[in-house]
Amino acid sequence: MRTLIFLLIAGISSLTHAQSPSDVARHRLIGLIADVRGADGRRYGSRDHLGNTMDCVKIIKRTDSEQFIGVYHTYINEVPRVNLAISDDLLNWTWLRELAYFGSQPTIAVPSDQPHGYIVAWEQEPKNHLRFAFYPTWSDLQAGIPSRNYSVPRTLSTCAEGTPSIYGQPTLDNIDVGFHFYDNCVVDRQARGTLKNFGLWTQFRKQPNVDNALLHFGVKGNIGDRDTISNFDSYQFTAMEGQYAPNDFGTWRTFIFDPQTGNADPVNVITDGGSQAFANPTMTLTTWKGQQILIVTLFVPSEGHAEGEAGELIYYRKL
Ligand SMILES: *[C@@H]1O[C@H](CO)[C@@H](O)[C@H](O)[C@H]1NC(C)=O
Ligand SMILES: *[C@@H]1O[C@H](CO)[C@@H](O)[C@H](O)[C@H]1NC(C)=O
Repeated sequence: MRTLIFLLIAGISSLTHAQSPSDVARHRLIGLIADVRGADGRRYGSRDHLGNTMDCVKIIKRTDSEQFIGVYHTYINEVPRVNLAISDDLLNWTWLRELAYFGSQPTIAVPSDQPHGYIVAWEQEPKNHLRFAFYPTWSDLQAGIPSRNYSVPRTLSTCAEGTPSIYGQPTLDNIDVGFHFYDNCVVDRQARGTLKNFGLWTQFRKQPNVDNALLHFGVKGNIGDRDTISNFDSYQFTAMEGQYAPNDFGTWRTFIFDPQTGNADPVNVITDGGSQAFANPTMTLTTWKGQQILIVTLFVPSEGHAEGEAGELIYYRKL
C-alpha cells in the first residue's frame, strides 16, 4: 500500500513538474553557490588594500594575464564611488583607481570585437540612471580614461533605474543589458534593454515574467540586481536578488532564474557563521591556471549577517 501511494505521488509529481534538460545543470549550479564552506577560496567582509569596502564587486579575468579585475563601490562620506582593483588570487585586492564619483553597482565585460578593451556600466547619481564607459585597453582602464561613454536616459521609471548587468557576449555596437527600474517609484522590478553603438538606448522593456518567477515564492519587496552566465554545462542561468519584505534588508535572498524553463529556484546559501541575507549576486565563469572556475560574489547586509560576515563575500570553486 505504501509503495502504491508512493508511486501515485511520484507519478503526479512527475506530471506536474515536467523535466527540463537544464534541471541537472541548474541543480549543480545551485549546489555550488549554496555551499560557501566547500569553496576553494572565500573571504567575508572583503576590502581592498586601502581598506575600501568592496561592495557588490563584479570580477572578471584580464584578457592578457592571469590577474583578476574587480569593480565595486565604496561609500565614503555618504558618497558612493566606483573603484577598480586587481588581484592575483581573488581574495587579496590592490586598489588601482576610482572610476566614478556618485557611482555604484558596477559591472564589467570584455566586448568580443574589442578583445583588449573593457566596458564598465554602473548606476550614476544624481537622477539615478545607468551609465556606460568603454576603455580601449587595460592601460586606459587603469588610467580611468574612456574613449566612449553614455548616460542612459530613464525610460521605464521616473525615479530610478540601476544595477546594470550584461547578458552574453557584448560588442561595442550591441550591449544587451539587464537592470532594475523603480516601478511607479514604489518597488524595484526587472527590465532589459540594448545599448547600440554607445549612443542609442533601445528595446528597453519590463520583464514581468522574470519578476513572476520570484513573486511565486512570496517575495513582496524589491527584485533588483542580477548577473548571468551563458554557458554553465551549456545552459544560461541568472543569479537574482529578491527581497521578501519591503524595506527589510535582512530579507534579501538569492535565486537562480532559469531562462530555459522560465522558473526560478531559491538558493539556500550556507556560510561558516550562518548569515541569512544575501544581496547583489554576481557569477563569473572563467579559467585560472588552466582550470575552469566559478566565481561568486554576494553582499551580506548588516541586517542579516552572522558575526564577522557582513559586507562583500567573495568565493570561488574549481569545476
Ligand atoms: C596581498 O598583495 C600584496 C601586493 O600584491 C602583497 O604585498 C601582500 O603580501 C598580499 N597579502 C596576502 C595576504 O597575500
Ligand atoms: C563622454 O563623451 C563625450 C562625447 O560623447 C565627451 O565630450 C566627454 O568628455 C566624455 N566624458 C568622459 C568622462 O570621458
